Amino acid sequence: MSEHNQNSNDSILKKPMTRRDVLRLAGTGGLGLLLGGSAVGGMFAAESHRKTEAAKVPSASEDQVPFYGQHQAGIITPAQNFICFAAFDVTASGSNSLQKLFQSWTAAAAAMAEGKQVGEESSNHNLPPVDTGESVGLTPSRLTITFGAGPSLFDDRFGLASKRPPAFKDLPSFNGEQLEPQWCGGDIGVQVCADDMQVAFHAVRNLARIARGKAVLRWVQEGFQRSTQADPTGSTPRNLLGFKDGTVNPDVNSAQDMNKVVWARGNDGAAWMSGGSYMAVRRIRMRIEVWDRSSLKDQENTFGRYRASGAPLGAKNEFDPVDLSAKDEKGNPHIPADSHVALARGDGSIQILRRSYSYSGGIDLKTGQLDAGLLFISYQRDLFKQFVPMQQKLAKSDRLNEYILHVGSAVFACFPGASKGGYIGDTLF
Ligand code: HEM
Repeated sequence: MSEHNQNSNDSILKKPMTRRDVLRLAGTGGLGLLLGGSAVGGMFAAESHRKTEAAKVPSASEDQVPFYGQHQAGIITPAQNFICFAAFDVTASGSNSLQKLFQSWTAAAAAMAEGKQVGEESSNHNLPPVDTGESVGLTPSRLTITFGAGPSLFDDRFGLASKRPPAFKDLPSFNGEQLEPQWCGGDIGVQVCADDMQVAFHAVRNLARIARGKAVLRWVQEGFQRSTQADPTGSTPRNLLGFKDGTVNPDVNSAQDMNKVVWARGNDGAAWMSGGSYMAVRRIRMRIEVWDRSSLKDQENTFGRYRASGAPLGAKNEFDPVDLSAKDEKGNPHIPADSHVALARGDGSIQILRRSYSYSGGIDLKTGQLDAGLLFISYQRDLFKQFVPMQQKLAKSDRLNEYILHVGSAVFACFPGASKGGYIGDTLF
């Protein structure tokens, strides 16, 4: 059982029931049982009742990802169906205001992760409601809210210049990218993921509301993967080019792999980042129309995998090992050396944890074509030892470059997790 699930079960057992829990039980017929027995006994009875009769409503433990913990949720948490990514610029001056912002955000994020409203409801009808309300009656939907600091937070505004990890800075420019300022940067990045878009949007909206006077939104991008409703088996999602995307990723259940690939350590250069992780975000537009006119063979050679099965070229099944030295009967490598997989893999010594989502943003007014692609997100211990060399290689020679264009870019130092009583970012101040 993963650390998150373990925490989650513990917290469910200790936690008093919220109004939402009661409503949900009522909706599934569990309330009668609850009222008939002791609260705890009734809750277990209701749980088993729900499992047999109302499989569509997830149990509270499946539906909540604990907010507090050693690491922030949303990094090694299995990807939810939707993302609403928000980058903020801080307008407040001084470290005190910034700390207060993180404190308020922490309280709100922890409440929303439990499916609660933000703040105490007021009985004064002449005031605006404390919570914007669009998630009332919805389950927490495995909401996670992951906060990170951008390199610009370490300028001279908040006295944090000396705290910037030496290897944390803006990315270098990469071959072929055409970055648009409206999709780049940010003092703070917040990755909000949930199995319901309305729940994710609600979280971003309330964080922006809470930030009023202290921070403003710089850019927001929504994204999606296939939903658990559409694919209850949870197989690898396909990207908008039709290929399974996310097959090869380090094992999030292996603490050893995560320590090697994802979690920063105190002696990596910044003690306050110990247990945190560095995030790279790239908004990558796909030239869908061009892709749709290319042959299946070209498409498969572009990735080095079969479209239908997701198997590496020359192999049978999706999870068969990728063998870059395997040759066909003519002596040519099955997987072209300039395919995406061959280049991204290299000799296998560099790994990153990918956690990307598709996006679609209407049409590009300049071309009249769909503005759709991949909101690429990866987590790593060191951006410049992992993401940067990999992307440099891809930017130079990847066959995929004919069909994509990097238009947005940001990096964030995602804080370690907060413990109850503390707040996100407290190790920094
Ligand atoms: C729109 C842009 C991109 C698309 C459509 C895309 C798609 C894919 C697909 C279909 C695969 C094969 C299946 C899998 O293992 O998940 C893959 C693998 C991979 N991609 Fe990408 N990718 C994109 C951008 C990137 C970027 C920017 C990076 C990193 C800088 C990256 C790193 C990787 C890695 C590390 C693998 C696994 C390689 C292996 O060891 O087999 N990708 N990608």
